[in-house]
Amino acid sequence: MSLAEPEVMPGTTPFVCNRSESVLSVIEKCLDNGVGSCLIVEDDQRLIGRITLDDIRDALLDGTAITDPSLEWHLTNAGALASLGRLRNDVDHQLLQPVLDGGGRLVSVRVDRSAQAVQIAMPHMTRHEFRSMLDAFISSWISSRGPYVQKFEKDFSDFIGARHGIAVSNGTVALHLALVALGVGPGDEVIVPDLTFAATINAVLYCGATPVIVDVDPQAWCMTRPLVEAACTERTRAIIPVHLYGRPAEIGPIAEFANRRGIAVIEDCAEAHGARYGGRPVGQFGDVSCFSFYANKIVTTGEGGMCLTPDDDLALSLRMLRDHGMSPDRSYWHERVGYNYRITNLQAAIGQSQLWRIDEVLQRNAGIAGLYREALMGIPGVRFPPDLPDEYESVVWLACVQVPADKRLPLMQAAREAKVETRPFFHPLSSLPPYRLYARSCPTSRELSATGINLPTSKAVDEQVVERVARVFRDVLG
Ligand SMILES: Cc1ncc(COP(=O)(O)O)c(C=O)c1O
Repeated sequence: MSLAEPEVMPGTTPFVCNRSESVLSVIEKCLDNGVGSCLIVEDDQRLIGRITLDDIRDALLDGTAITDPSLEWHLTNAGALASLGRLRNDVDHQLLQPVLDGGGRLVSVRVDRSAQAVQIAMPHMTRHEFRSMLDAFISSWISSRGPYVQKFEKDFSDFIGARHGIAVSNGTVALHLALVALGVGPGDEVIVPDLTFAATINAVLYCGATPVIVDVDPQAWCMTRPLVEAACTERTRAIIPVHLYGRPAEIGPIAEFANRRGIAVIEDCAEAHGARYGGRPVGQFGDVSCFSFYANKIVTTGEGGMCLTPDDDLALSLRMLRDHGMSPDRSYWHERVGYNYRITNLQAAIGQSQLWRIDEVLQRNAGIAGLYREALMGIPGVRFPPDLPDEYESVVWLACVQVPADKRLPLMQAAREAKVETRPFFHPLSSLPPYRLYARSCPTSRELSATGINLPTSKAVDEQVVERVARVFRDVLG
């Protein structure tokens, strides 16, 4: 059981609300604390009960949270109390537990995750995302026009150190747009790694180009320059290095080789926001670099993505292609066949706040990976991601380990029984029906795919959850 901020007076913690607070303030505390609920106390800290975000959702839908926006009102009006939900004293077996003194006053709170179902990933929406999203919503700019889209593009490209940012509906279309903007089409070959999410190869096939699959490196888990060089032909038009599970590909040398040969590089940074190679953030190396902001990503907008590029002409093409191929200077004048791959102002509003918090998320994820390392160290058969040379600076997207292939399924089943979600690594592309035509022998990818497991990595993971995971590992492998 972990103690949440025991040294802070309850009235000021993100877990405790006073009856004089507004429902909006309660929503923000419930979001910030990542538990989704708060305890309610009198001025003298006597516990009144508990309130959850689900209770408030009910009260928002029936309007009482709006017409009567203080907790005080809800506490003193029996009818409204019912609509505010199950405000109650049933404090046992709950995630958020009060610690009371002899007089029933709250002295501290405990977060008890011993029985909580834990998902592999969970977006953490705080008051910042809530406020900017409400602002965008109330402004009525809910489509792709609106100030947050440009702000998010500027802030994200500044964060990576790229000249242009073009926000799009998701990471898959970012890859597609990049390939189209670079003129990749039938007859062209595009090099992709065998171990990646299917979106990487799908985008190549959308263009009618031919994917050339390469194995990944056993230490990096990603493409390296020698692997790329060996797969290059005179038809190679582009390379898509994927920075897998937060681990950078050998992107500096790959980009150098590609530049010399006149081959385009499209970085797939969907899983590696903030990772670096040679001191430079990934996303700075490609002719176009593509990010995903899906709900499980390091920065999320729910669904969303972004293309970054240093090139003015490519930026213009990407913008036009994102918007039906329309000229930016002449309404309804379509220069070419384009797409509607736009992101909404609502999503961008969330993304901007997420970006402000990226350091906090990266630190949190690194901390969680450290906890898993300590707890799983020495359990027979458990292997951690290999250390990388200094020029590679990984981030943790989802914590991961490798286990003996024959033990992985029983391990995942035991984890499910302990209410912990785990995920196997991606299947090798070469093994999947739509891509068998392009299959290559990729022994490293096959081995990683058969042995890798992603572990829950989110605000909901603390020492207690890690210990639950470790118990499962010890039971199955020990
Ligand atoms: C490596 C990789 N590339 C591309 C994508 C596609 O992104 P999206 O889901 O936003 O379309 C993902 C993830 O989801 C991914 O993991």
